[in-house]
Amino acid sequence: MLTVIDHPLVQHKLTLMRKKDTTTGDFRRLAREISLLLGYEVLRDLPLETITIETPLETMEAVQVQGKKLCFISILRAGEGILDGILDLVPSARIGHIGLYRDPETHEPVEYYFKVPEALEERLCVVVDPMLATGHSAAAAVTKLKEAGAKQIKLVCLIAAPEGVAAFEAVHADVPVYTAALDRQLDEHAYIRPGLGDAGDRLFGTK
Ligand code: URA
Repeated sequence: MLTVIDHPLVQHKLTLMRKKDTTTGDFRRLAREISLLLGYEVLRDLPLETITIETPLETMEAVQVQGKKLCFISILRAGEGILDGILDLVPSARIGHIGLYRDPETHEPVEYYFKVPEALEERLCVVVDPMLATGHSAAAAVTKLKEAGAKQIKLVCLIAAPEGVAAFEAVHADVPVYTAALDRQLDEHAYIRPGLGDAGDRLFGTK
């Protein structure tokens, strides 16, 4: 299921990110700010449990997030740009990394790194990757996570292409996808249009 998070601040910040003259520093800061706002929505249904605590004045029943610590999985390298914002919300979350690059000829994902926390089956895994373009990298990453035991997975991106959403959902219909925008289309180079260009290059100031 696709959810477009149309909060006015998310949309405003995304417009700033799309502008070609936005500097690397501003782009990075905006990515962090948007991902915090996206994370707030994505984690809205976290289950709670009641515990007994002592305030300075009395004993009370209070709530806390239930179960094992959350796990954020960053798809390298652009995932790093939206990891920090979501991590601001849950600083104690565990973090995993999946290294995939897109073969320039076939546009298929090639894995070069996989390191994730233990007991994935007991955690909510939130996968972050700014651009859901062909959907192949995200689908490959989620397949690997399922093979490693993950049972509850969500995918968060900044911009999705209709083709990417369809390809991802064809393989992982059970994994909800959250995005700040659903753009028009993929072009012949597998860039999202209108998009924001190469998210990794814009985050890290490379070319
Ligand atoms: N990856 C990006 O960084 N941008 C796109 O438009 C597509 C894939």
